[in-house]
Amino acid sequence: MESQFTWMNGRLVPTAEANVPFLTNALHYGTAVFEGVRSYKTERGPAIFRLRDHMTRLVNSARILGVRQFPYDLETLIQAAKETVRANKFEDCYVRPLIYLASGGFNLNVDYAQVGVGIAVWEWNQYMGPEALAKGIRANISSFTRHHVNVMMTKAKISGNYANSFLARTESMRLGFDEAIMLDTAGNVAECTGENLFLVRGGRLFSPNLSTVLEGITRDSLVTIARDLGYEIYEQPITRDQLYVADEVFVCGTAAEVIGLREIDFRTIGTGESGPVTRHLQQVFHRVVRLQEPRYADWLDPVNLPVTSGASAVPAE
Ligand SMILES: Cc1ncc(COP(=O)(O)O)c(C=O)c1O
Repeated sequence: MESQFTWMNGRLVPTAEANVPFLTNALHYGTAVFEGVRSYKTERGPAIFRLRDHMTRLVNSARILGVRQFPYDLETLIQAAKETVRANKFEDCYVRPLIYLASGGFNLNVDYAQVGVGIAVWEWNQYMGPEALAKGIRANISSFTRHHVNVMMTKAKISGNYANSFLARTESMRLGFDEAIMLDTAGNVAECTGENLFLVRGGRLFSPNLSTVLEGITRDSLVTIARDLGYEIYEQPITRDQLYVADEVFVCGTAAEVIGLREIDFRTIGTGESGPVTRHLQQVFHRVVRLQEPRYADWLDPVNLPVTSGASAVPAE
C-alpha cells in the first residue's frame, strides 16, 4: 500500500504534496540528517522500536552538523512519527524522519539556512530479501575506505556521509555481492554501508568499538540481548583476516535487522550459512520487536496510545 500522508513542517500533508523546491540547500550539499526507524505489528497494534533513541540521535546528528535553531522539540518529533504511522494505517513499516537545510545557506554556512523537518513512512519488509534472513548473504571488503573521524562525522547520520555508502554498495552489488564491509582509515574493520558488524569465535561475540562507526541502535539492542542470554561480548579492533576465520559473522541495522554473512571475499564463513549464534540472536530479536519478550517491552512505543500535549504542530521556543 502506498503512503497517503507525510508529516511536513508541523502537519500531515498528502504524500504527493510533500515536495521541496529545487533550490533546497540539502539537495545541493547533502546538508540533511535522517533516521531509519521501524514500526512493527504487535498485539498492542503497531509499535515503533526505540523511537525516542532514534529521535534523540536525529537531533544529535543535526547538532553535530551545526544546527543551533530547532523548529520542533524532541517530544513533538516523537509524537509526529507516531501520528504519521497512524494516519497511514500501517503496521509493519519504515519511518524516515529528516531534518534538512531548506532555503538559504548557499554561502556554505548552516547559520544562514532555514531548517525544515519531514517524516515519511513506507511499507518495507525485508531490506535484503527473505532468502538473506535464512541463508545469509555474500559480502566483499570495499575498495572504498570508511570516513576518517575528522573528515566526516561518523556519529551523525548526515545525508552527505552516505555518498560513501553509495560508492561502496554500488561497487559491491556490481561485483555480484550483496553488501560491502568497509575498513576504517587504520585498516581495521569498521562497518557495512548501513549496518554494524559482529563476529563470533568460540561462542564469544566481537564487534569493532564505536570510534569510527555509527552508534547503531540495533547493535546496542543486540549487545543487551546477547549479554542477557549469557554471551560474552568484546569491543575491540578487528582485522579483515579475523573475519575470514570467524565461526560466524553477522551484521545488524534497522533496515537489515540481523543478517548472517555466509561468504566474504570468496571465502566461506563457518559452515557457509547463518550460524547458530546468529540464528539465536535473530530469533530473539524478532520476538523482541514484536513485543513477545516482556523484558524489553519498554523498547516499543505503540502508536495508538493517545497523543499527549497536542503534539504535532507545536514549534519549539
Ligand atoms: C553506517 C551505518 N552503520 C550502522 C547502522 C545501523 O544503525 P541502526 O541499528 O541504528 O539502524 C546504520 C543504519 O542506520 C548505518 O547507516
